Amino acid sequence: STTRVYNFTVKPLSVTRVCKTKSLVSVNGMYPGPTLYANEGDRILVNVTNSAEYNITIHWHGVRQLLSGWSDGPVYVTQCPLQTGQSFVYNFTLTKQSGTLLWHAHATWLRGTVYGAIVIFPQSGTSYPFKFPYKEHVIILGEWWNANVEEVESRALLSGGPPAVPDAYTINGWPGPLYNCSQKDVYVLKVFPQKTYLLRVINAALNTDLFFSVSKHNLTVVEVDGDYIKPYATDKIVLAPGQTTNVLLSTDQPAGRYYMWGSPYISAQNVSFQKTQTLALLEYKGLFNAAAAPVLSAFPIPNDTNSVTKFSTSLRGLADSLHQASVPQTVDKNLLITVGLGVKPCGENHICQGPNRTKFTASMNNVSFVMPDIAVLQAYFFNISGVFTRDFPDNPPFPFNYTGLPPTNQTPDRGTKAVVLPFNSNVQVILQDTSIQGTESHPIHSHGYSFYIVGQGFGNYNPSNASSFNLVDPPKRNTIAVPVGGWAAIRFKADNPGIWLVHCHLEIHISWGLASLFLVPNGVGPSQSLPPPPPDLPKC
Ligand code: C2O
Repeated sequence: STTRVYNFTVKPLSVTRVCKTKSLVSVNGMYPGPTLYANEGDRILVNVTNSAEYNITIHWHGVRQLLSGWSDGPVYVTQCPLQTGQSFVYNFTLTKQSGTLLWHAHATWLRGTVYGAIVIFPQSGTSYPFKFPYKEHVIILGEWWNANVEEVESRALLSGGPPAVPDAYTINGWPGPLYNCSQKDVYVLKVFPQKTYLLRVINAALNTDLFFSVSKHNLTVVEVDGDYIKPYATDKIVLAPGQTTNVLLSTDQPAGRYYMWGSPYISAQNVSFQKTQTLALLEYKGLFNAAAAPVLSAFPIPNDTNSVTKFSTSLRGLADSLHQASVPQTVDKNLLITVGLGVKPCGENHICQGPNRTKFTASMNNVSFVMPDIAVLQAYFFNISGVFTRDFPDNPPFPFNYTGLPPTNQTPDRGTKAVVLPFNSNVQVILQDTSIQGTESHPIHSHGYSFYIVGQGFGNYNPSNASSFNLVDPPKRNTIAVPVGGWAAIRFKADNPGIWLVHCHLEIHISWGLASLFLVPNGVGPSQSLPPPPPDLPKC
């Protein structure tokens, strides 16, 4: 394995899309940002310098950060932000992960423009467990706002309502021809006929689940969130924000031009969002009628939960002899965590300009996460008291019919609470969606861990559901889209000491408090202990 060194300069960049020119925060003047390339097992050093006017951190989404929690990145959880002019070297090793991940800003809503791909090739000397592709390409789905991302954020938080819908969705930063003065702003992928391409698809959107498809072509899914799966053929895939999916595409259609597209999956039934699509072009080399309109297949309906369920329940981990699954067969620590939204009456700390003079809130087990102003990992490591507590409940404080009507008096507690997971314990978490303020699919992401998805279903979780869990070949992911009005069961071994943020990857929901902390204490000896922070870690 080798060490790969990258330099990231965070700086403003002027970009024009859909008739609007604005200055956005970029890395190295690129939008989307640069791609990191590595082999499994490599060490990565990214020297980040902040030359923008906003405080920032960078998170390596899905990278396990085994014993390197100081490089994880969520602001005020593992580090204080890099202020203008400051630098920090993120230093981590890609342990037992292969495929595609993403990196993004993890302070305020800056990840709306500050994001890029992490491409992890197999360990040197080994190959893919599938047909070697002729070529590989990164496809990043994103959102474009005419307003500044910071402005979109503060408007949403002040209004107390949902965030503004983006002015466009994008593929590799380009909206495609369905938007205003956007005819030429199309990402074009040129391909040769009769070849196999690997597309590394990433959803970097702030607040939208997206379907992705290539008109008239089948996609064979071979990897999700940095872990291989059994090949699965489908006409479209769906990705929640933070999820990544590698697909093989055979250029087996007549020479021509075919639209690839991203189309929103909006599970909430009672909220009307604008529904628009981003298009990109797959263009064959060869002879075809260039005057003909490119082929465009039909978009799914926005709340096509059936397709989403079919896709997510069809994925199987690659439990072969080379890529052994290590699914915990027994459980030492059981958690049932509700994930959902609520409304909080007007009062202290709440500006009540929202619907019915209320403000949205969000919680896990009725605790709405409060961002401290000293990094929790520092407070933990140096025993600074008053920053966080260790009393996050293992179960909801009061049971109710989670998918029925919400209890009228539910007012979440606010706090910065961690749940302690004993070192090396086998952990099972049931994530239970609640229907408060209308159901919505929450993409729950854990830092520091990928987890096996052993089961999912609709309605209230019932312990008898455990008899049908898949403990043989479940997929391993870092972000699970909890079914709308349903539940998901995940398992992992708590072998990575540190403080790890677990949160909904819809940015508006983390702002409302849909987050919590896993605290995993050290094991025995230096090989099971978090080392001290690097000297250049930013100070608060
Ligand atoms: Cu991709 Cu905490 O985030």
